[in-house]
Amino acid sequence: MNQDTVSDGIANTNSTPVRFADVLGAADRIRSFVHRTPVLTCAAISERIGCNVFFKCENFQKSGAFKFRGAVNSVAQLSEADLASGVVTHSSGNHAGALALAARIFGAKAHIVMPSNSSEIKKSAVREYGGLITECEPTLASRMSEAARIQSETGAVLIPPFDHPHVIAGQGTAALELIEQVPELDVIVSPIGGGGLMSGTCLAARALRPSMRIVGAEPVGADDAFRSKKAGKFIPQLAPNTVADGLRTSLGQLTWPFIRDEVDEILLADDLETIAAMKFFWERTKVIIEPSCAVPLAAILRHYSEENSAGSRPEVPQNIGIIISGGNVDLQALPWGK
Ligand SMILES: Cc1ncc(COP(=O)(O)O)c(C=O)c1O
Repeated sequence: MNQDTVSDGIANTNSTPVRFADVLGAADRIRSFVHRTPVLTCAAISERIGCNVFFKCENFQKSGAFKFRGAVNSVAQLSEADLASGVVTHSSGNHAGALALAARIFGAKAHIVMPSNSSEIKKSAVREYGGLITECEPTLASRMSEAARIQSETGAVLIPPFDHPHVIAGQGTAALELIEQVPELDVIVSPIGGGGLMSGTCLAARALRPSMRIVGAEPVGADDAFRSKKAGKFIPQLAPNTVADGLRTSLGQLTWPFIRDEVDEILLADDLETIAAMKFFWERTKVIIEPSCAVPLAAILRHYSEENSAGSRPEVPQNIGIIISGGNVDLQALPWGK
C-alpha cells in the first residue's frame, strides 16, 4: 500500500481533496473549543485481548461524541454572512447535537432535520443546544429534501454529517491526538458509519505512522464498507439492521476512497457481541459508551479469539488504540435482559 504514495502517505489512487495538512489546520482551529480527551486503559480488557489496549475517550468530548470536532471545524470556517444565514443538516444522531452546539458557539442558527424515529435523548440534546428541529419521514430521501427546502428558504449552509472535507479534517484530530498521546500504537481501530471518522483517522495515521495498521469496525447488520472493500466497488447500505444507530449509514463519495485505499482491514461484530462488549466496558471501566462505539471493541474481541481458516489465531499486536466514539446512550432503548 505504501509504494504508491505521495508525501503524506495517502495512495495516489485516492484523489481526495482533504489531506493531512487539513487535519493539522483543524487541530489549531478547534483547539480552544474541544476537549483534549483522555486515553484510558483497563487491565481486564487488555488481558482478555492479550495486549495493551488504549481507549481514546471521545465519549467525554463536548456533545458526547467526536462529531463535535468536525462540526466546529466546519462552522469556524464560515464567513460572517454565512453565519448570519445559519447552518442546516440532516442527522438522526450525534452530528445533530454537535452541529447545534457548534452553531450556538458562533452565534448561528442551526436547522436540524431529524427523522421522526430519532431517539429522544438525541432530540433533547439538539433542543438543549438551541437547535431548531424539523421532523421528517425516516427515509434518506425525506431527510435530504427537507434539508434542501430549508436551505433554499433560509440560505442556511449545509454541513453534512461526514462527506465534507472540513468535517473529515476535524474528525481526524481525534486520531492525531491519540497518536500523540500513545506514539507506540501498532494498530488503530475506528468504527465506520458514513466513514468520516475513519477517513480522518487514515489521514492522521498514514502521515504520522505509515506502518500502523488501520482497522475499521462495522456491525454485521450494516456492513457496507466491508462488502464494498471486498468487492472493490462502492455498495450502498440498503436496509441496515443494527443496534449501532450511528453506523447505519452508507459511505460517501469522499469517504469511500479512504476505505478502499487506506484501511487495511474491516472487522465485524453482531449486535449480541456489541451489547456484550458495551456491558463489559461499562462494568470494568465504569465509563458509559454507546453501542456504535462498542462495535470496535466487540470486533477486536471476536477477531483475536477466533480461529482463522488455517486453524490458528491471528497474531496479537503489542499495542492497539481504539477510538471510543461516543457516549450518548438512550437508556430506554437498551435491552437490559441477559
Ligand atoms: C458514536 C458514533 N460512532 C461512530 C459514528 C460513525 O461516524 P462516521 O459516520 O463518521 O463514520 C457515529 C456517527 O454518527 C457515531 O455517532
